[in-house]
Amino acid sequence: MVSCLLALAFALYSVAPSAAAPRPRHSFVVKDSLAEIPHGWIQHSPAPEHYSIKLRIGLPQPNFRSLEAQLYEISNPNHHNYGKHLSKEQVDALVAPHKESTQLVDDWLESHGLSQDVLDKSSSGDWVTVTVPVSKAEEMLDCEYHAYKHPTDDDFIVRAQSYSVPDYLQGHIDVIQPTTMFGRPKAMRSTIINQGLGLDPLGVDCHTTATISCLQKLYNTEGYQPLKDSGSRLGIAGYLKEYASYSDLKQFYENWRPDAINGTFDFVSVNGGLNDQSTPGGEANLDVQYGGGISFPLLNSYYSTAGSPPVIPDSATPSNQSSEPYLEWLTFILNEANPPQVITTSYDDNERTVPKDYAIRVCNMFAQLGARGVSVLFSSGDGGVAGSQTPPSCESNDGKKAKQFIPTFPSSCPFVTSVGATYRIEPEIAAPFSSGGFSNYFSRPEYQNGHVDSYLDFLGDTYDGMYNKSGRGTPDVSAQGQNFQVIDSGKKYSTSGASASAPTFAAIVSLINDHLLRNGQAVLGFLNPWLYSIGADGLNDILGGSNPGCGTMGFSATQGWDPVTGLGTPDFKKLIDLLSDSEGDDDQ
Ligand SMILES: *[C@@H]1O[C@H](CO)[C@@H](O)[C@H](O)[C@H]1NC(C)=O
Ligand SMILES: *[C@@H]1O[C@H](CO)[C@@H](O)[C@H](O)[C@H]1NC(C)=O
Ligand SMILES: *[C@@H]1O[C@H](CO)[C@@H](O)[C@H](O)[C@H]1NC(C)=O
Repeated sequence: MVSCLLALAFALYSVAPSAAAPRPRHSFVVKDSLAEIPHGWIQHSPAPEHYSIKLRIGLPQPNFRSLEAQLYEISNPNHHNYGKHLSKEQVDALVAPHKESTQLVDDWLESHGLSQDVLDKSSSGDWVTVTVPVSKAEEMLDCEYHAYKHPTDDDFIVRAQSYSVPDYLQGHIDVIQPTTMFGRPKAMRSTIINQGLGLDPLGVDCHTTATISCLQKLYNTEGYQPLKDSGSRLGIAGYLKEYASYSDLKQFYENWRPDAINGTFDFVSVNGGLNDQSTPGGEANLDVQYGGGISFPLLNSYYSTAGSPPVIPDSATPSNQSSEPYLEWLTFILNEANPPQVITTSYDDNERTVPKDYAIRVCNMFAQLGARGVSVLFSSGDGGVAGSQTPPSCESNDGKKAKQFIPTFPSSCPFVTSVGATYRIEPEIAAPFSSGGFSNYFSRPEYQNGHVDSYLDFLGDTYDGMYNKSGRGTPDVSAQGQNFQVIDSGKKYSTSGASASAPTFAAIVSLINDHLLRNGQAVLGFLNPWLYSIGADGLNDILGGSNPGCGTMGFSATQGWDPVTGLGTPDFKKLIDLLSDSEGDDDQ
């Protein structure tokens, strides 16, 4: 506030050469600056001259704490407001920016010739989106954009290593991206093996292979009949040109769930996301086959979000890069009147490749979904304690190059439920690739108190300095993630990854919601406060295995919560019983 008042006091309005609004005289203040180019990226060339960039400007949400407080009340099974989810209008009101911020940002954009009619605003006004030539963005943000190349997969992105805003806007803008955001969500499906595998559905060994019937037995959903019209829906978020195939799903059902043979999914296009049936994606197919196979006949919706196409800076006509797929998708889903009550996403990134201010704002959007009664699940990652990176690096990026474990985002956001991976049965143990650890951005939420402290006691001083003792721990829960039988382009494959675990867990949550809705109860919504209190008794605690990485053995699974398998894997019937027990309880 102080800097703003000072700036206004000195404001002298210069006459702009165009018809645009006058611009207060100002200096720039640095908003974000990276100590070094994020691991793996190489500065390639200046941004292509005619490249245009879709800037997303996040205005502060002065009442966010109030939204957060209400979210925790309605998600706490011991609170009298439990289950009283908020409407879109209520949530919008709680994240709306100050009028003054809106006015100042509008005037600033106007002064650059960007009038109201070219601005795209979120319904609460907390995000303003505008597409500008990169040269204009450089002038507005006093920065330099370059094309950066990723060494392993030939991806190019256009980013800046630092950016600034006019001093008088400092308290009125939280974040502007894409600038310093080098993160790219990656599908958490690590391996495809055994192409053309000739497994006979009747001869499956559930000790080594995951199929629908293996999972139904293991997680105790066998025999449960959901009601198609109960209203329970499962949403599956897809990015990076991953398309889910109807014919592969049909073939999958023929093999592994014959009674669902006529089952399908709804396709939803976000930001022009396509539904190209000629190039099905392995991640998308895995997600719809297991999400649908476990929750059939409940309605599944597949969201195809366009964004982040690679740009080729050398070519004469580089494709424009859409800003950032999570934001595209979140903006879309928050605008829906009735989003699915459970949403699963199998894409993750290393937390440190995502600027902190940006991560906080994206995380706040997950809180908005939670407040509306949506359970948001993310796979935890496939690199063990080394996160989700290719190529792996466990050196700190502050210039000191100290060895440290790498947490993943969005899993590290306290308002999502992070799902790690297990394998084998009798006993089920942690899959070695299951990512888990402690956030450097988000402090430990209250609902984890006790659970995480017990694990830290168990750990003692092992790995001191390599992880953040005060950070949010991940994952929250887990499910099988190894050797899932899938159909891709008509062929049988076996695939592994926390990618498989997230839709499995999410589909079971949608079965629980089916049960609740049929009993006239509210859906589960934001899961964690319930999971870490009452729900934990309905989970199978995983006691064996660990998640090696960074040249260490990683964390070990043990009794209670651990940063490999969380609180454990679901036991559907036990979870349902726990919900029935609390029915009619008169709490305050
Ligand atoms: C699938 O649909 C066809 C055609 O409507 C019907 O004959 C068949 O019984 C259905 N199969 C199942 C398993 O519901
Ligand atoms: C890039 O975006 C600009 C502005 O929206 C548009 O005029 C141009 O056609 C786009 N270029 C490509 C290759 O899509
Ligand atoms: C550890 O996490 C806290 C948030 O809980 C954060 O404020 C702090 O900066 C983190 N430390 C490091 C070294 O990243």
